[in-house]
This record gives sequence, structure tokens and C-alpha cells, in this order.
Amino acid sequence: MSESNSIKFSDEALALVHKIIARYPEGRQKSAILPVLHMAQAEFGGWLSAPVMDYVADLLNIQPIEVYEVASFYTMFNLKPVGKCVIEVCRTGPCWLMGAEDIVQYMEKKLGIREGETTADGMFTLKTVECLASCGTAPMLQIGETYHEKLTLEKVDSILDTCRREVVTPVSHRTKDKL
Ligand code: FES
Repeated sequence: MSESNSIKFSDEALALVHKIIARYPEGRQKSAILPVLHMAQAEFGGWLSAPVMDYVADLLNIQPIEVYEVASFYTMFNLKPVGKCVIEVCRTGPCWLMGAEDIVQYMEKKLGIREGETTADGMFTLKTVECLASCGTAPMLQIGETYHEKLTLEKVDSILDTCRREVVTPVSHRTKDKL
């Protein structure tokens, strides 16, 4: 059996996928791509491998390249394995002006990784993303479904300590509850 053939949603997830696809007219299954990708990321370990994206393409009856295009466009989709705690720092203008660059550099030094990388212990992945619609509380970051706002270096220390203490479920692991 090839790797792609071994990838399959659970029965429960597959039923939800078909329900989502059925919201759209025949021939427009591609419209379901975002929620189905969220589900795939949640179901298959927090990231989208090529075989997983191929599986999604198959379910939606579209070409794999159409899935790759969407998955590689949005930062909420991970195209490589991520840590238990995925830190997404807003890098857009207002946050950058308010010190997001210092926050990123501080975390890079503290975690011993560069932006886009995961710590060797698999605990943290550090990402920068575009505006998370909380510009008034810049600089800010998101972990899972929690926003951490008006960041200072002290707050970052506290956030990382909390992450180490608790198992944080990435946002992508929770999304299917809301679809
Ligand atoms: Fe950072 Fe909008 S610019 S939340």
C-alpha cells in the first residue's frame, strides 16, 4: 500500500467532510477546500504533507496543484511538521512598528531557532504571520486560539513558561469542532 493510500479520514471526520462538500453545487466542490484542509491538518498531525494534500484533492475531485496553491498561500496551514506549541507572531505594519521585530528576535535567541523553525525537542515552532486583526493591541501573537497582546519581553517569558507547563493544542487541531 502506498503512503497516500494509507491516508484516510476517520469515519466521523469523513462524514463531516462530505457534509461540508454537500453545501456547494455539483462541480463546485473546490469551494470546500479551506474547511477540508483545516480538518486534514487537524486529523493528520498538525501539518499537510504532499500525500495528505493529494488525498484532499481526490476528495474534492480537483487537481493536487489546486490544493498545493491554497495550502501554500495561507500561513495557517503548515507544510512541514510543527511543534506542540505553534507561536504565530504578527509581522504586519502596526505590530512591527510597535516592536514585533524585537519580540521575534528575543524568541529566536531564547528558543535557539530562527523564524520558521521548530525546537529540537519538538516543543515550539516560531512563525511570523500577517495581520491577526488585533492591531490596536500591538504587538501581539497567537498560540492556538489564544491571543497574547501588548507584548513585552517579560510577557514573552511568561508565555513560553506557560507553554512548557501545559500541552497546548494548536489551533489547527481544534478547528474541526467549529466547522
Ligand atoms: Fe498585528 Fe494587525 S498588524 S494584528
